[in-house]
Amino acid sequence: MSTTAGESLPTFSLDGEDVPFHAGETIIQAATRAGRYIPHLCWHPDFAPHGSCRLCTVRVGGRAGAACTLRAAAGLEVESDTEELNAQRKTLLQMLFVEGNHFCPSCEKSGHCLLQATAYQMGMEGPHFEEFYPDRPVDASHPDILLDFNRCILCELCVRASHDVDHKHVFAIGGHGRATHLLVDSESGKLVDTDMALTDRAASVCPVGVILPKRRGFAIPIGQRRFDATSVTGQVPADRGSE
Ligand code: SF4
Ligand code: FES
Repeated sequence: MSTTAGESLPTFSLDGEDVPFHAGETIIQAATRAGRYIPHLCWHPDFAPHGSCRLCTVRVGGRAGAACTLRAAAGLEVESDTEELNAQRKTLLQMLFVEGNHFCPSCEKSGHCLLQATAYQMGMEGPHFEEFYPDRPVDASHPDILLDFNRCILCELCVRASHDVDHKHVFAIGGHGRATHLLVDSESGKLVDTDMALTDRAASVCPVGVILPKRRGFAIPIGQRRFDATSVTGQVPADRGSE
């Protein structure tokens, strides 16, 4: 048991160190609140977990599970920062990079991108696998927002933000397997034919460079961007309010 502000909280162990948790919290919620980093892409502290990217896979009592969906429980022994798990994460990241078209040097999100920052953190130095080079047209139809589907990692954060926060249904996921892709949920399939606005939460939630404001390119110089000053391991939930 640990004591926080006079309150005794149960704890689990993460890589050998105690992490206190509140009832109902997931492993990643408690760890993040305690300032501990568990790699993740589809999890965001403001949204219900999605459990799809598997970057947050940890070992609990020897068994693999997603830290964003597994509930914390007293006495759990959780391993996250191990050679084996980080090697698996690096492979997942390499697969994501080859599955889309990610040209970091020309991307507005470079330096602000969770995928790029996580890849750096996991020691990814190259794609390893053969690139798919999928054909994914850009949607520039909206007056204020550009969609570059080339970088989509299918985390569904925009789907959740549009539905749960904006109370709209701008985005959806279509297709199966390798053909799974992000859709704009309008008759024409174009963003201009939705009620999406630049002030929507969905417009700022994308962890990579898909949903971008128009007329505001490269506003923050390289060297002063989000992950330039602080690595992904040092960013606490409060920093992640607006991706
Ligand atoms: Fe995730 Fe961005 Fe793709 Fe939406 S557009 S699914 S937020 S990567
Ligand atoms: Fe847990 Fe994506 S962060 S599965």
